[in-house]
Amino acid sequence: MTQRQLPLAEAFIEGQRIPARDTFADLDPSTGRPCARVSRCGPAEIDRAVTAARTAFEKTWRRTTAATRAAACRAVAGTLRAHRRELAELECLDTGKPISQAYTDADVAARYFDFYAGSVEALHGRTLLDHPDLLAYTLQEPHGVCGHIIPWNYPMQITARTLAPALAAGNTCVLKPAEDAPLTPLRIAELATEAGLPAGVLNAVPGTGPEAGAALAAHPGLDHLAFTGSRRTGRSVMTAAARGIVPVTLELGGKSPHLVFPDHDPAATVPRIVTSVIEHAGQNCSAGTRVLVHEGVHAQVSTALAEAFTGLRIGPGAEDPDLGPLISARQRGTVLDHIDAGRKAARLVVGGGVPDVAAGGFFVEPTLFDDVPPDAAIAQEEIFGPVLCVTPFGDAAEAVALADATTYGLSAGVWTRDIGLAHAVARALRVSQVFVNTYSAAGGVELPFGGYRQSGFGREKGFAALLEYTRVKAVAIQVDPL
Ligand code: NAI
Ligand code: MG
Repeated sequence: MTQRQLPLAEAFIEGQRIPARDTFADLDPSTGRPCARVSRCGPAEIDRAVTAARTAFEKTWRRTTAATRAAACRAVAGTLRAHRRELAELECLDTGKPISQAYTDADVAARYFDFYAGSVEALHGRTLLDHPDLLAYTLQEPHGVCGHIIPWNYPMQITARTLAPALAAGNTCVLKPAEDAPLTPLRIAELATEAGLPAGVLNAVPGTGPEAGAALAAHPGLDHLAFTGSRRTGRSVMTAAARGIVPVTLELGGKSPHLVFPDHDPAATVPRIVTSVIEHAGQNCSAGTRVLVHEGVHAQVSTALAEAFTGLRIGPGAEDPDLGPLISARQRGTVLDHIDAGRKAARLVVGGGVPDVAAGGFFVEPTLFDDVPPDAAIAQEEIFGPVLCVTPFGDAAEAVALADATTYGLSAGVWTRDIGLAHAVARALRVSQVFVNTYSAAGGVELPFGGYRQSGFGREKGFAALLEYTRVKAVAIQVDPL
């Protein structure tokens, strides 16, 4: 295929594709070759999209009933299901993830729209203040125009996760997908509009972070900004939004631990820990990247993890391996640098290199380190690759202290049959999601999710996200007694 024949990912504003002025290449990570051209949008397109969203908010969307918006969200869910195969294949091509994971992502994306269709009809204000002369109540109002800047790891799921509650709550949206994986977000914007969202309610503008992303974050016409991505970019986005006092939601990744106690069930624990760190080759904000294991079972767990890691299949996403490539040569370089630093600090047990599969793809071997000192960079920093670090502990207090000993706080897995211990540990951990004897890294549409500490703030998923996309107004009325 020549470059001119590649599909063109263009901005979608006010119900129409906007012809590209300039483009850049989007790569297939499984081969390293271009799979699409992407419109290189900037401040002009962002401004046009924000203006379209403002008009749609004032003229149409804010005047709709919850039932109307629920029906629209249900229609979007239906259309995503009808295009499940197309979306999954596009996601697999653009991100390199195993095709079965891409199908799951399409299903979860549809589920978000269904969930917020249902929950927005249960959203209501309250009656306040028992007072003879006053009637007071609250209204749950949409912010207005919401900006959404999303990353490349779960483009379909994160598009749906961030847009569905915002749209259901009555906001209009401008989405900026990541430069490395814009194909499904742009397609979803188009499909959602075909399914019945009025033009301008959902707009999507591709481009680079410094051009399109920065223009959206700094746009004075926004009423809310949601960002998912790196801590560094999160900081700059929050700073830009601060100028206009625009409220932000930040989801900035993590260094999520598994806490494995002596009475865990090895048959359940080990496979789920492995899945939690190799799903999408570890490029997952809630990947379970640290195993904190009681010293009494350390040797057994390490041996079982090493066996499992050795047996993993790696290859192009379309072949549905256990893990596919990383998103880019840059991401692979970052992960290999972390691994090199890890070799000096800890014991490399499995992997550590570049596997001999599919020339040109951005692959890294699943990599297991043992006896990792808690202060080593590989135990502290988000690697975003298939790298697992094992560290032993002596008792539960030490396990919790180690779990909390990074600057992040997103998810955690607790592996024990002692129900009292499980509850005590769940309560002590400074994270937003605790899984006991399971680890649901994908999906979890109904469970509130977000950061403690530097993993960010604000909540996505669940009913909590619907509240996040509204603000509360109190109305008090003098009612003179009869
Ligand atoms: P990034 O945070 O730079 O990119 C995320 C989004 O922000 C993209 O849409 C990008 O275009 C946009 N962006 C970049 N610079 C911007 C700016 N100045 N203003 C506004 N928007 C901007 O993430 P990147 O560089 O792709 O990945 C680097 C690391 O970030 C990864 O290794 C991983 O550790 C972390 N990350 C975390 C994610 C999460 O789910 N929390 C997702 C992706 C990356
Ligand atoms: Mg791509």
